[in-house]
Amino acid sequence: MRLHIDGTDAKARPHAHTYRGFNEAQGGWVIPRPANPHVHFRDPETQSDIFTLVVPETAKLYAWATAMPNLGKNRIRTPEQAIAYRNRILELGRTVNPTFEATVPLYLEPDIDHGVIRGGHESGAFWAAKLYPKNGTTESDHGIDFRDIRPILPTLKVMEELDMLCLVHAEVVLDQYDELVVDRFREGLAIDVIDRILRHCPKLRVVFEHISSRASIEAYWRWRRKGCHIEATIAPQYLLWNSSVLFERGMNPINFSIPILKDEEDRVALVEFMLEGGGMLGTDSAPHDLSAKSRHEHCPGGLFNEPVGLFIYFHLFRTLGGEQWFEQFVDFACRKAAHFYNVPESSEEVVIAEEAWQVPPRYTHGSAIIIPMLADTVMPYSLKRA
Ligand code: DOR
Ligand code: ZN
Repeated sequence: MRLHIDGTDAKARPHAHTYRGFNEAQGGWVIPRPANPHVHFRDPETQSDIFTLVVPETAKLYAWATAMPNLGKNRIRTPEQAIAYRNRILELGRTVNPTFEATVPLYLEPDIDHGVIRGGHESGAFWAAKLYPKNGTTESDHGIDFRDIRPILPTLKVMEELDMLCLVHAEVVLDQYDELVVDRFREGLAIDVIDRILRHCPKLRVVFEHISSRASIEAYWRWRRKGCHIEATIAPQYLLWNSSVLFERGMNPINFSIPILKDEEDRVALVEFMLEGGGMLGTDSAPHDLSAKSRHEHCPGGLFNEPVGLFIYFHLFRTLGGEQWFEQFVDFACRKAAHFYNVPESSEEVVIAEEAWQVPPRYTHGSAIIIPMLADTVMPYSLKRA
């Protein structure tokens, strides 16, 4: 388990020292600009300092991003809201990356009007919708009760017909007695929920978001073998850490995200899964102000991992991947999301250079203070324009 990325370690690895894919003239590895199909930018109205701080951090690195719709009272429920939110994101993101793009999914509620879905889809406002388990995570109190998803199945059928994507936060929160399910068992129980969705809507494109356990990986391959249209995003913290980082030398709420970090065997399985071609990039960067992260109760889950996530994936492919590690990294980071979302791969090229930088101990804007993942450590890679 690592609390920093070791650049020297990279050079000692079997395939890394060959500098596969390295472009001498460019001084680094040239790749199409990657895509991040899972990130939280927050609400520009109620959390404007955080929004202003984090959007450029994504736009600096990625060609496009899926901006999650869990914005509290301003959650994305209509095509107009999706368009307005996207415009706010682009206005800011394009100050650092003129071709930055964003897609904003609809927040699925049990009583969603199918006319809204059809209208939003036809107008191009959204081509994805997010399924949150009610009260399972930040701003999910209007989500779906995963113990009985029957009320939402007709909606998913409409999405299947429209060829929309269904992005699932796969966790069952309550049991049949209305008691909370132990956090580390929640994802495992949601495998049956996805199973049910796929059986009812065999053509629906489903993304299993931030997959975090070995059982889920096994389910993913089972579904793929059956020909289901399923993908999974992998957030960097689940590749680098197990649940020990939550309790190392005391409690560390800054490292807490939902789903909860699992065991070492899950972490190792996720790294192998990624290296053998499973899943796709999706950082789930989820910034919270230090004041929220320091709450003595009801501290929210979420890591601000955006500044470092891309380099964590890269480093793992480079140090642990096989002979084809570079091509596989490009697939994972630059191609798979575009393919699954059915959007063109970025035609812009960028360079991952071995230029080290110190991850700041905190990011600040206005009154917002956000501690990033791997704060105050050395990151041996930077992204540059080609
Ligand atoms: O840790 C998390 N934070 N998991 C989620 O699913 C939501 C996210 C957030 O919005 O803060
Ligand atoms: Zn998320």
